[in-house]
Amino acid sequence: MLTVTELSADRVDLVDRHLPLSRLSEQGPEHSTYLIAWEDAQPVGHAHIAWTGTYLGVPEIQDVLVLPGHRRCGIASLLTEAAEDEARRRGSDRISLSVSQDQNPAAKLLYDKLGYVDAGVEHPVLMPMPWGDDRRAVTDATMQAAARVVASADAP
Ligand SMILES: CC(C)(COP(=O)(O)OP(=O)(O)OC[C@H]1O[C@@H](n2cnc3c(N)ncnc32)[C@H](O)[C@@H]1OP(=O)(O)O)[C@@H](O)C(=O)NCCC(=O)NCCS
Repeated sequence: MLTVTELSADRVDLVDRHLPLSRLSEQGPEHSTYLIAWEDAQPVGHAHIAWTGTYLGVPEIQDVLVLPGHRRCGIASLLTEAAEDEARRRGSDRISLSVSQDQNPAAKLLYDKLGYVDAGVEHPVLMPMPWGDDRRAVTDATMQAAARVVASADAP
């Protein structure tokens, strides 16, 4: 059975053995949340949601990854919908993400299908600098910032 849960501290090691949790250091209930998709007891995908410090100033879905053997089964769609639900629960009326316009056709098709539309802004990408952890914003014209309206929980 397929389920989606928030990553809890006691499951970090288990999940990390199957899926890279590259944004774990950003994790904190007020800043970000990792959602994990489970096929029974096995982690098969994840999505990270940043609640603060995002490019468009609304919650941002990042780091969506589904294990290769589990793709095209609706897992990324389920993770995205779970992220939208959580954003709605926290009172947001929209959510965003960035996707390459031409380097990642699978992701582009996924988010087109889910109703994400071009936010109409060039997207500066934070690039790790080769000499250290410092990150610098560079504009990558292939990246598209996309947003989707998710009605707020307390909307009429
Ligand atoms: C992109 C990715 C997250 C999609 O995950 P997924 O669980 O396979 O996606 P879903 O099953 O929810 O796909 C939903 C729809 O998206 C589209 N889609 C997804 N993958 C596709 C592919 N490889 N080719 C064409 N369309 C695709 C289809 O319309 C699909 O619906 P369908 O299967 O009924 O035709 C997955 O391929 C992945 O982990 N890729 C590597 C990491 C990555 O690129 N992440 C996105 C960063 S923005």
